[in-house]
Amino acid sequence: MPILTLPISPSWLKIDWMNTHEIICSGVEETEALGAALGKSLHIGDCVALFGGLGAGKTAFARGVGAALGVNDVSSPTFTISMEHEGRLPFVHMDAYRLQSAEEFIELGLDEAFERAAVLVEWADKVLNALPESRLELTFLEGENESERVIRIRAHGEAGMLLERFVAKENI
Ligand SMILES: Nc1ncnc2c1ncn2[C@@H]1O[C@H](COP(=O)(O)OP(=O)(O)OP(=O)(O)O)[C@@H](O)[C@H]1O
Ligand SMILES: [Mg+2]
Repeated sequence: MPILTLPISPSWLKIDWMNTHEIICSGVEETEALGAALGKSLHIGDCVALFGGLGAGKTAFARGVGAALGVNDVSSPTFTISMEHEGRLPFVHMDAYRLQSAEEFIELGLDEAFERAAVLVEWADKVLNALPESRLELTFLEGENESERVIRIRAHGEAGMLLERFVAKENI
């Protein structure tokens, strides 16, 4: 696979290694912009799983996804767990931080969203077994300074098409 550089911002770096893309976002705006690139690519039935600790930038990314879908009030649904937005398509934003297990996720009926919406899940590791096998996985890691995040992107299961659309959308 070719190694390309991002045209959006010179500070972004892309590595394509074993089908894992790694992007450096310098500042919250770049993380939101990356989210917006994904938002443009989403279809109903797509699942996006976000991994990373407190303050890693998951909600910032989700805000960008929402913005690209025409939704401007995306905030962390930590207490409600799931928030549905009506944008270009139904967009369900979940935060599994307060859930204990995949079983609890299913008992609450949250899995029902996967059929009728594009779904983004923060703290996906908490409920991993309840998520569709085909999903885009993004892991948010610390960068070299306070305003930098390293975001690792990979397709799990049959989500290769979504990854391709996402990557093609912004030429990343
Ligand atoms: N490059 C960056 N990308 C994203 N956020 C950044 C970046 N640099 C600094 N930040 C700051 O880090 C914080 C990220 O918060 P955010 O709510 O998005 O994290 P989170 O992963 O959703 O955390 P939580 O698990 O608590 O919901 C914000 O205060 C944001 O301003
Ligand atoms: Mg959050």
